Amino acid sequence: MQARIEELRRQVAIELEKAEDTKALGEVHQRYLGKKGEISALMQGLGKLSKEERPAAGQLINEFRDTVEADLGIKEQALKEKELLRRYEREAVDVTLPGVRRPKGNLHPISLVRRQWEHVFQGLGFTVVESPEIDLEYYCFTALNIPQNHPSRDKQDTFYINDEVVLRQHTSPGQIRTMEKNPPPLKVVVPGRVFRSDDNTSRHTPMFHQMEGLVVDKNLNLCDLRGLLDTLAKAMFAPDVEIRFRPSHFPFTEPSVEVDVSCFVCGRKGCSLCKGAGWIEILGAGVVHPKVLSVCGIDPDEYSGLAFGVGLERVAMLKYGISSIQILYDNDIRMLRQFASAL
Ligand code: DAH
Repeated sequence: MQARIEELRRQVAIELEKAEDTKALGEVHQRYLGKKGEISALMQGLGKLSKEERPAAGQLINEFRDTVEADLGIKEQALKEKELLRRYEREAVDVTLPGVRRPKGNLHPISLVRRQWEHVFQGLGFTVVESPEIDLEYYCFTALNIPQNHPSRDKQDTFYINDEVVLRQHTSPGQIRTMEKNPPPLKVVVPGRVFRSDDNTSRHTPMFHQMEGLVVDKNLNLCDLRGLLDTLAKAMFAPDVEIRFRPSHFPFTEPSVEVDVSCFVCGRKGCSLCKGAGWIEILGAGVVHPKVLSVCGIDPDEYSGLAFGVGLERVAMLKYGISSIQILYDNDIRMLRQFASAL
């Protein structure tokens, strides 16, 4: 028995030496400590010994088993450490390698203009709010004092979803929705998409963007509107531009004005951008009609409102020298990339 154990001891030592990974080690474990392994076989051999020999032989086997277990444990630990080291080497990251440059997107000129206006308005204490793109005829026309027979109500101009629901043809319904919900004083801008049943031309698209502005407070007048729009024009185009008012008509403002900005390319001398006029029309504005305030539950004798609506495509085209509105929607990456460093 002793001789057999010594032989096995040498074998185990050799096999442990050879085992290069935990899998091989598992096999060694199985071969010696497994149910049908060498040590079990030794145990079974005990039966063939005499009663006197058995205890000493049993002790020898137990000791042998303990050392095999201990040796396997030590080897296992060593192999695991080795494997871990190998894994670290395999997965090592060379932080000195140059990185992969990912292509970076940039904002569309319309988004640039929208954000720029929003930024200026927020600086003046305005809140940016949203209003639905699909809205009731009531908000788009009726509450804005637009008469039943007004041409903009025509199905040729406005997309109707049904008799009462339209795709908003301007952002002005945002005024009504704001005044209905919030008591004055108010200062909001409402940017967003608007829709008109127009063909695609160099000046028109069936969908474009506007930004509506609304101020409601006590004692506001046309001079306040002028001051506000002057600040905006200077912030958007150039610090030395001026604005001028021309009388106009919108059903929801009284008086109504069309606002021109002095040509920021030629300084009013006349050029191709301003078509020789020295001035460029940029937006419509006015003092909110008393009827519009009343409809929203605001007393026109106590409060007055200033409003304006500006087309963002138009501003983007002027500012960035874009000749056709279609260019803004072609999504030509070469055009869009030119705005990577704008703002
Ligand atoms: N809603 C007008 C349009 O789409 C623009 C406009 C004009 C808005 C005058 C206003 C305003 O708030 O006061 O043509």
